[in-house]
Amino acid sequence: MAETSNVDYSTKIPNNVGLTDDQRVLKALEQWHPGYIDWWMTMGPEGFQTSDVYLRTAISIDPKGWAKFDYVKMPEYRWGILLAPRQEDRQVNFGTHKGEKAWQEVPGEYRAMLRRLIVVQGDTEPASVEQQRHLGKTAPSLYDMRNLFQVNVEEGRHLWAMVYLLQKYFGKDGREEAEGLLQRRSGDADKPRMLGAFNEATPDWLSFFMFTFFTDRDGKMQLESLAQSGFDPLSRTCRFMLTEEAHHMFVGETGVGRAIEATCQAMKAAGIEDPYDINAVRKLGVIDLPTMQKKANLHFSLSLDLFGSEVSTNAANYYNSGVKGRFQETRIDDDHQLTNAVYPVSKFVNGQIKLIDEPALTAINMRLRDDYVADCAKGVERWNKVIEKAGVNFRLKLPHVAFHRHIGEFQNVKASPDGKVLSEAEWAKQKDAWVPSKADGDFIGSLMQPCWERGKFATWISSPKVGIDNKAGDFEYVKIHQG
Ligand SMILES: [Fe+2]
Ligand SMILES: [Fe+2]
Repeated sequence: MAETSNVDYSTKIPNNVGLTDDQRVLKALEQWHPGYIDWWMTMGPEGFQTSDVYLRTAISIDPKGWAKFDYVKMPEYRWGILLAPRQEDRQVNFGTHKGEKAWQEVPGEYRAMLRRLIVVQGDTEPASVEQQRHLGKTAPSLYDMRNLFQVNVEEGRHLWAMVYLLQKYFGKDGREEAEGLLQRRSGDADKPRMLGAFNEATPDWLSFFMFTFFTDRDGKMQLESLAQSGFDPLSRTCRFMLTEEAHHMFVGETGVGRAIEATCQAMKAAGIEDPYDINAVRKLGVIDLPTMQKKANLHFSLSLDLFGSEVSTNAANYYNSGVKGRFQETRIDDDHQLTNAVYPVSKFVNGQIKLIDEPALTAINMRLRDDYVADCAKGVERWNKVIEKAGVNFRLKLPHVAFHRHIGEFQNVKASPDGKVLSEAEWAKQKDAWVPSKADGDFIGSLMQPCWERGKFATWISSPKVGIDNKAGDFEYVKIHQG
């Protein structure tokens, strides 16, 4: 079966890339499969591997009908290889190869570069599954539990997507990298995952929602820029991943939004006007808004670190070579080579945070990060609408990009959320007001009681406006068989 828009389910690995005609890659993937299942059983959702979960599975790459919903036991999920349709005459749209035909094979000179990009992207996918594996046990509803598992199986599929590229295009090195992706573990001292935010704990459901809002959104931006790649199979792979990624961001945004809603409603019902009366708010069994701000501060700053150094020759090389573009590259009105262009970069100069023009080529990471911040800000405004509508006097906002950073220009700077440069002592004194403290974590932890009755939700989160796949409010999204 050749490349099609419908997915071939006759092979062990569902795909639309003609795997039956590509025995070498099919065999390589079949050999990798048991190790993957082993990883999923040991590192995937803990305690729910025998439950029936109402999941969507990709069955087509037609945007209008690409998924079907049904009950599935997660280890039996059909993880497949799906690429967006090939666009005839697609070109390399930026860099020194601009105007050439898009590459169907890896150009020898960019092999190491492309492999690196694919491995780094691939490494994030299983990492988040590992970070979230314990959350099923404290799910605030069956609806939320199902969403968690949906995100998890799709991150698993994204790992498959990257492994396919490694196996098909990178020979022996690719096979070794594919093995490595199953060996590293989030947070492991000896074999950690490759990027910082993917080694942090996701201790509770508010963290999970913040992670899917902020960190999956970094993933979206990375996929967007890889979707521009001149290496066509990578572009097509990432384009299809983006259709799934939209749901992950939905889970994050609505998850936090519903927590905000529950808090505001409880405050109103109890006649609490002051959002900073934290003890009174917490007594209602909801998460106070200032603590949500702290969680947002933490996850936003960790996610900013994923964009790497603001000024980067690696990023310039990726761009020049045509392997990784800018967000919505083809919609930008410029020469797409950035020969003489400059871009303002926030830097730390003589003790001050300043915007300095840098060559646009080396400022590619900064630009992608700016696009990311703008995208985050829109979501935060939608959260503020929820607060406003409830009549509570509070606004959430994104902290300054210099706040709480570990990578790039500001890694050695202490700054407040509004961007004021601080001494170590000032930072230490106020830190607990800006990032979640141990006490905040303990309080949120105390609310993480499972709520698994059909149609019921934990006190700290409101019910969603509509069900998944338009199901009624009391739909049994997960039939729990604990094993
Ligand atoms: Fe992903
Ligand atoms: Fe994701």
